[in-house]
Amino acid sequence: MRICEQTLASVQVLFADIGDYLGAEASALPSDLDETLPPADWAKAERFYFRDDRVRALLSRYLLRRKLGECLNRPPRSLRLEAGAQGKPHLPAREIEFNLSHSGSFVALAISEDEVGIDIERQRAFEDAEQLLENHFTGDEIRWFRQQPDAERAVAFLILWTRKEALYKAMGKGLSLPLDHVSAHPNLDSAAGWQIRTLQAPPGYLSALAWRKGN
Ligand SMILES: CC(C)(COP(=O)(O)OP(=O)(O)OC[C@H]1O[C@@H](n2cnc3c(N)ncnc32)[C@H](O)[C@@H]1OP(=O)(O)O)[C@@H](O)C(=O)NCCC(=O)NCCS
Repeated sequence: MRICEQTLASVQVLFADIGDYLGAEASALPSDLDETLPPADWAKAERFYFRDDRVRALLSRYLLRRKLGECLNRPPRSLRLEAGAQGKPHLPAREIEFNLSHSGSFVALAISEDEVGIDIERQRAFEDAEQLLENHFTGDEIRWFRQQPDAERAVAFLILWTRKEALYKAMGKGLSLPLDHVSAHPNLDSAAGWQIRTLQAPPGYLSALAWRKGN
């Protein structure tokens, strides 16, 4: 598993390429997976129908637990993860904040002393991108999108999408907050008290990060 790390302000960001473990020619899963994941993580992964989805779920928890265990000097399997009202996982005492995302062959993980949200999306075309923006995003975001050259609009859409998703994931609000509640386009470095950045993502992927200083 190839892992690429970068640090942005207080946040450690990790992109892990799990492609070798996916698809018809998949490699055997890491031999210490069993000793790293508690039964709850296995049960969660078992709910997915497709093997690749189960593998993504298992390997993202594997990476998360190993990283948290390393930071806290505790056995990864012993770490209890709780979920907030909208499902955002956190440690009970919030010694460290984290968030993860997975798409295609990559898992993105953000770890910080500050609250964080991260999103990664494989580049792909959305036929109804413009319609989706018009119906759900803010006027400023729609204006920013329309300023982008036609040939770059597929990427521009995913830039907007990942920035908004990272912000909403940082806030832990999920879909309870309408998407036009706050703008997160790239001309803004911050929104509603949160810092937002487009990340240097692996080729073929877009990724964004949001964080804010704890209270
Ligand atoms: C729950 C939600 C965050 C999942 O997003 P997704 O794109 O399917 O999945 P990602 O791979 O990015 O993230 C999944 C991980 O986020 C974490 N997560 C779950 N609920 C979360 C929440 N409410 N807030 C932050 N993180 C959450 C989990 O760790 C989850 O992985 P795991 O279940 O394997 O532990 C998403 O449905 C959501 O509510 N998004 C917010 C706003 C939105 O609708 N954006 C659309 C584009 S602008």
